[in-house]
Amino acid sequence: MIVNADDFRDAARRRLPKIFFDYIDGGSFGETTLRRNRDDFDRWALEQCVLRGSMQQDLCADILGHRAALPLMLGPVGFLGLYRRDGEIAAARAAATAGIPWCLSTFSIRSIGSVARAAGGEGYFQLYILDDRGLTEELLAGAERAGAGALFVTVDTAITGIREKDVRNGFRAATRLTPAMLMNMATRPAWCLDVLGKGTPSVEAVDHRAEFGRGALEQAANLSRRIDKTLSWADVAWLRERWNGKLVIKGILTAADAQLARSTGADAIVISNHGGRQLDAAPSTISALPEIAEQLGGEIDILIDGAFRRGSDVIKALALGASGVMLGRSYAFALAAGGEAGVAKLLNIFRTELTINLALMGLDSVDALRRNGRSAVRFLDAPRA
Ligand SMILES: Cc1cc2nc3c(=O)[nH]c(=O)nc-3n(C[C@H](O)[C@H](O)[C@H](O)COP(=O)(O)O)c2cc1C
Repeated sequence: MIVNADDFRDAARRRLPKIFFDYIDGGSFGETTLRRNRDDFDRWALEQCVLRGSMQQDLCADILGHRAALPLMLGPVGFLGLYRRDGEIAAARAAATAGIPWCLSTFSIRSIGSVARAAGGEGYFQLYILDDRGLTEELLAGAERAGAGALFVTVDTAITGIREKDVRNGFRAATRLTPAMLMNMATRPAWCLDVLGKGTPSVEAVDHRAEFGRGALEQAANLSRRIDKTLSWADVAWLRERWNGKLVIKGILTAADAQLARSTGADAIVISNHGGRQLDAAPSTISALPEIAEQLGGEIDILIDGAFRRGSDVIKALALGASGVMLGRSYAFALAAGGEAGVAKLLNIFRTELTINLALMGLDSVDALRRNGRSAVRFLDAPRA
């Protein structure tokens, strides 16, 4: 039974082959940051405020200049089309129907053009700058043609952290399905029928480039090898000149880097540690937020991601200065478990939890919460068990 966001994780585990479930679920190395992202929400309490009368809740929020129906958006998650057939389109449709933006990963089965055409809504594109600048410009042109209103440049993955579950499963190292993978997939017939039933998916954006090989696994392995490992702020400046829409830097954890993003011309940042998949032992995102918001609040739009599973998590981030929250694993699991309807249900769960918690805090809107800011939360400095 699906009652909360975590229930989708269990449902996805039952439906997905182990290699894909572990790829979504895992973090890097000892998974310290992965755990911290979740645990550190408990260090903040929400202020209860009673007898304010019954009230109509307004959950709308401004995200990158767009009035969204919820203070949420779907962040970029790679390979959605391997968890569900046309998963990118299904997720984007659920977002569009709920009135929130979606952001398509560079590592997607369907291209930004196809997703924008099929789903509509407020769509953005996430770019990995590749050492092949020609292909990078091709991806940019595709995003522009598709009408993407913002470009998210991910800057925390020039070098990939080791995700030990993937190493054990042989994921990413493999460019073709191995016998062990095939045997594992055979234990998930519903997934096989859905995702492999009409042939092996491939990465639409590089299908025309023979050098990337054929089939999603080989193309993805070649794409990730081409992520520029020498990326610097000069490359962000290069991108700023080429992109006329909003530019968002994803993967910021310090106020100093947030300042640099602003001075390089970024419109927004995403406070992110890639869901604990990169620098292990990095701080949680919720612990990094207050200092960044204090130093840059009002000067740049601040988005955040990392283990948001509850409406109360979202409320804490908004009170601490974020203008919106990006979902990652929670919607990837909901998509794997239930397709478009699964993501719609997840967003509905967030909507309900936000509504009830705001009411119990005596607040009638997300805007009022953001105005109250830090006074809506309390830091609990008690030692944890
Ligand atoms: C399976 C998976 C694939 C991801 N792929 C990308 C990607 O292609 N580009 C990107 O910028 N971030 C990617 N991310 C990171 C997410 O955008 C986000 O930062 C992170 O998942 C947030 O943490 P959460 O999953 O705990 O909510 C990926 C995350 C996961 C779990």
